[in-house]
Amino acid sequence: MDDVRLPGRARLLLPTLLGLVAFAATSCAEHAPQDALEPEGRVARIIEELSNPVFLIAAVIFFLVEGLIIVALIRFRERPGDERIPRQVHGNKRLEIAWTLVPALILAGVAVPTVGTIWNLAKRPTANVLDVSVTANKWWWDVTYPGLRINTANEIHIPVGRPVYLTLRSTDVIHSFWVPKLAGKQDMVPGREHNITIRADRPGIYLGQCAEFCGLSHANMRFRVMADTPAEFDEWVAGQRQDAVQPTEGLAAEGARIFANSPCIGCHTVQGVENAVGRLGPNLTHYGSRSTFAGSTFRNIPAYLRPWLDNPPRMKPGARMPDYGLSREEIEALVAYMMSLK
Ligand code: CUA
Repeated sequence: MDDVRLPGRARLLLPTLLGLVAFAATSCAEHAPQDALEPEGRVARIIEELSNPVFLIAAVIFFLVEGLIIVALIRFRERPGDERIPRQVHGNKRLEIAWTLVPALILAGVAVPTVGTIWNLAKRPTANVLDVSVTANKWWWDVTYPGLRINTANEIHIPVGRPVYLTLRSTDVIHSFWVPKLAGKQDMVPGREHNITIRADRPGIYLGQCAEFCGLSHANMRFRVMADTPAEFDEWVAGQRQDAVQPTEGLAAEGARIFANSPCIGCHTVQGVENAVGRLGPNLTHYGSRSTFAGSTFRNIPAYLRPWLDNPPRMKPGARMPDYGLSREEIEALVAYMMSLK
């Protein structure tokens, strides 16, 4: 026994514990934008109604088991000069049956509602459903509305109160679709199709985030679900279905000319611009109507778009769009053009 160091360690115990509690407490924030404990839609609420009682059961078991361990540690610890051995319970049939049966019953009790909820949520809603396809790319989200002939990126508009049945795919590695306030996480495995339903009860912006480490810019792979009133949504749909309005004069028109004659069109689509049909990068047809860009990492304002066009990988590590060595004048013109694409 190390009689000299033990008291020192014991003296460290309290500050260490207090430090850990402080550390845990500071990670809690009220009304955080991605707080899953404040569901904003039917699907998220169903999940919460399942996880709350399960968490409660787990918490009771945790404190029971940990408490018993601490009691055993203190009551039956080795004492100098005390050679007595605690009463042994090995081979006690009644005890062993009890501690096998009770956990099995608890697990069965948790499994029944869990499996029921999983099946229930996996079903495609029948009434009034909107279909949306989301494809994950390193590191942005391609969003299409198959029935509506719309293709956009990173910002998913949905009508309030309607179930939205998502078909999720990945083009490269495993990503994970997660809007904490609207639904649970759903991994997106390349070569497979996954489905998840989201629904928002109130208009608003719900922040999403890729929840599976997928490379350098995993943290920059964000998205937004914009829940609109039905009227706003219809208006948005009507706007998105239009071809881009090409500017005819000023700096924006100059930008349009540069865009149409540059490598941009190899990766980006602008509906209505001949040859601009690339699918490697986000569809830019209504770029100016979005509030963010580059995987919802930056606010869509010229102050961010300028340095982005100048050197994308410097703004977002690993970005596939290269530095094209654009001049300051070209960048200004392209910014004016892109912001004009409402
Ligand atoms: Cu995509 Cu992490």
